[in-house]
Amino acid sequence: MTNFISVNDVDNINALVQQALKYKANPFADRSLGTGKRIGLLFLNPSLRTRLSTQVAAANLGMEAIVFNVDKEGWALEFAEGAIMNGTTVEHIKDAAPVLGQYFDILCVRTFPSLQNREEDYAETVISQFIKYAGVPIVSLESATLHPLQSLTDIITIKEHMLLVSPPAGGGEGPKPKIVLTWAPHVKALPQCVANSFAQWVGSWGEADFVITHPKGYELDESYTKNATIITNQDEALKNADYVYVKNWSSYKDYGKIITSDKDWMLTHKKLALTNEAKVMHCLPVRRNVEMSDEVLDSNNSLVTQQAGNRVWAAQAVLSEILKSI
Ligand code: CP
Repeated sequence: MTNFISVNDVDNINALVQQALKYKANPFADRSLGTGKRIGLLFLNPSLRTRLSTQVAAANLGMEAIVFNVDKEGWALEFAEGAIMNGTTVEHIKDAAPVLGQYFDILCVRTFPSLQNREEDYAETVISQFIKYAGVPIVSLESATLHPLQSLTDIITIKEHMLLVSPPAGGGEGPKPKIVLTWAPHVKALPQCVANSFAQWVGSWGEADFVITHPKGYELDESYTKNATIITNQDEALKNADYVYVKNWSSYKDYGKIITSDKDWMLTHKKLALTNEAKVMHCLPVRRNVEMSDEVLDSNNSLVTQQAGNRVWAAQAVLSEILKSI
């Protein structure tokens, strides 16, 4: 693995999931793999889980991690080709990225979309320029359209739970779980990254019956949802679900806009009763009693803390793959 930007950088999802679960059982199994290697974690936007879990993962592999909050501590970066830099930006990515490539063996970048210009966001103009100019492997810590470390974590969490409830017996495969990604209300316009990425990974994984449900107007980019059944009636979609992934996103069609904040889409116990005692997931941070009710988040149905914990093992599996290639 050279870069980790999307599921397309992964040869075998199940092998990566197995590697992550091996690290969960034995965090220091490859403690010397990253000895003498340095990883830079660049944040153009805030984070709790991504920042800390990636630092822990790097430490488990023996790497030195340095965090740089570019948004607060760095020069304002320019990404436009041919820009006349007589405004607020101070340093062009063409100059900054090669310098960072001199300091680090792996560079990780978080860069959210503007939600103003769909074409620009979906062209991934920021992270693609880090790839172009840094000269070292780039790991996405969430980009304008995707959040691959989160999605790998999500599949690890589902697989881990599946193994717990029905361990493989006699080598036979159990029935496919039904996974439902449901839109939920929110007070702010959020990116489509987590939803796009989850759809892309679950679709590529191919080991689930996958349903996406959202109000009309919240259709995601079809290139990510081609392996999903899309249902705009949430109650219908939730029927017999084994896993419910709750997430808000703003409109892709009417780009970056909130079309509706219909409170009826919040996941509650009443909604959960439609499912097959489904386990509930969310990438966090979550707006309690807006996206999902306290009663659901605080119930045994919730996997969210376990899910966030698994961010470490996802990051460790990915970093180990990259370390083996450099
Ligand atoms: N889920 C996730 O990426 O969390 P943070 O934004 O806190 O990193």
